[in-house]
Amino acid sequence: MAKDLSQSDLVVAVFGAGTMGRGIAQVCAQAGMMTLLSDAREGAAQEALAAIDKALDGQVAKGRMTAEAKQGTLSRLREFTTYDEAAAAGMVIEAIVENLEAKRELFREMEKRIAPDAVLATNTSSLSVTEIAAGCARPQRVVGLHFFNPPPLMRPVEVIGGLRTEPALVTAMVGFAKRIGKHPVVATDTPGFVVNHAGRAYGPEALRIASQGIASPREIDVLMKEAAGFRMGPFELLDLVGGDVTHAVMVSIHSQYFGEPIYQPSAQMTVRVAGGLLGRKSKQGFYNYDGPPSASPPSIAVAAQPLPASAWVADEDGGSELAEWLTSAGVKTQLGGAPGAGAICFVTPLGEDASNAAVRLKLDPARTVGVDMLGRFNGRRTVMKTPLTTPETLGAAVATLSAGGAPVTAINDSAGFVVQRLLCMIVNVGTRIAELCIAAPADIDTAVELGLNYPKGPLALGDVLGPARVLAVLDGMHAITLDPKYRASPWLRRRARLGVSLLMPD
Ligand SMILES: NC(=O)c1ccc[n+]([C@@H]2O[C@H](COP(=O)([O-])OP(=O)(O)OC[C@H]3O[C@@H](n4cnc5c(N)ncnc54)[C@H](O)[C@@H]3O)[C@@H](O)[C@H]2O)c1
Repeated sequence: MAKDLSQSDLVVAVFGAGTMGRGIAQVCAQAGMMTLLSDAREGAAQEALAAIDKALDGQVAKGRMTAEAKQGTLSRLREFTTYDEAAAAGMVIEAIVENLEAKRELFREMEKRIAPDAVLATNTSSLSVTEIAAGCARPQRVVGLHFFNPPPLMRPVEVIGGLRTEPALVTAMVGFAKRIGKHPVVATDTPGFVVNHAGRAYGPEALRIASQGIASPREIDVLMKEAAGFRMGPFELLDLVGGDVTHAVMVSIHSQYFGEPIYQPSAQMTVRVAGGLLGRKSKQGFYNYDGPPSASPPSIAVAAQPLPASAWVADEDGGSELAEWLTSAGVKTQLGGAPGAGAICFVTPLGEDASNAAVRLKLDPARTVGVDMLGRFNGRRTVMKTPLTTPETLGAAVATLSAGGAPVTAINDSAGFVVQRLLCMIVNVGTRIAELCIAAPADIDTAVELGLNYPKGPLALGDVLGPARVLAVLDGMHAITLDPKYRASPWLRRRARLGVSLLMPD
């Protein structure tokens, strides 16, 4: 029988008083539970309690908590040092070192002491809940309870049942997560669960784009923020989380999925981590955090040019909207048909590069540029050159697109530009998570929005862009690169063909 986790006298014992454990203990005590906290390192639990005291002071100062509520929370928090002292706990939450044997050993010790219906919850990020539980005499009481950093602020909590977890315990844990003010998302026991799995698109694809010399890390960050509405660019995020942590997760998920190409880590990151360019924590990553910010010139020098006399736009997806932009900039514009002599040729490919589009449409590549129209990105526009595009053509194209005041980034040729590649890979990985039945479609989106701070979950994002367009981008990238990491998931392909939402369950 799963334990009743709604009892008012439920005692929680948290093992590990580091980054996560202290936050989890704070959350439980704030929710009214008697909370015990312990750490293998002497003094660590006391340091954590002092840090919680300080964090609560901050809440009181901001008027988010009363002084009485703070005292109440502190009165429910206590350090413990021996396993026996935690014997009365109805729930044990471990947030110790990410090591299978250490976690199994801890649960084995606690199993000997706690009541038969007490729960053993693990905050593991990358280990299998089933594998941790396999070390226990009663694996049915072991469950994953995956918090995000920092636990007091981050709302999602993934609830993971192992293969032998009692199903009623998963339901009870959903109630527990709500009781402590969190948003529970039930996920299956798979590498990275939902959020860390969904996060495997943004950073790795951005690293590939930068390493291919298409745009600089700074330019990619600016595009994702100003064109696609992300709060942080992928390189800012890599620097914040730390290259060592992110790279380790990438390597772990790739190997747990037996080398699935979609999760291929970046060889560039191996070198950066070895060189200590970890990001904010080492004061140097993709950005410099020690001293004034480094100046970074655009990766492609664009010579100032007057507006062109005339422009031609391919009559393809996004073409008519682009023709309107150009006309409103005061340029005589022709949509489709044969390009006039001397006109700059604008193409709007989905998943294709400007060179291939120029050849397919029988255009002069020296006079051709691509414009990313996937999301009708009005904030910042991308102009993409072929290797043969003349500086005059590129300069005139940038002058035209920025005529109304919109900022423009010029990039080298890329199947899928920058923003198409990143957004469509995010959608593709999200649909793969849905296809693998790791969580319900709506839960995937909520978990990603709350856990990764993306403007939308991957499935809703795909719906806004249009599933058929996302599929065209991925198919285009796949056809040009012959790289299996760009193959679209059947979940996406099916719904794009049927013309239905990516959130539609099977
Ligand atoms: N840091 C994150 O962003 C994050 C997010 C979600 C989950 N997690 C997971 O949470 C767990 C803890 O991560 P963290 O970032 O808080 O690590 P941390 O290094 O900050 O803290 C771990 C603490 O556990 C203590 N410890 C180690 N072995 C112990 C044992 N046998 N008994 C008691 N204490 C022990 C250590 O002394 C340390 O203070 C890991 O499983 C990690 O994968 C981390």
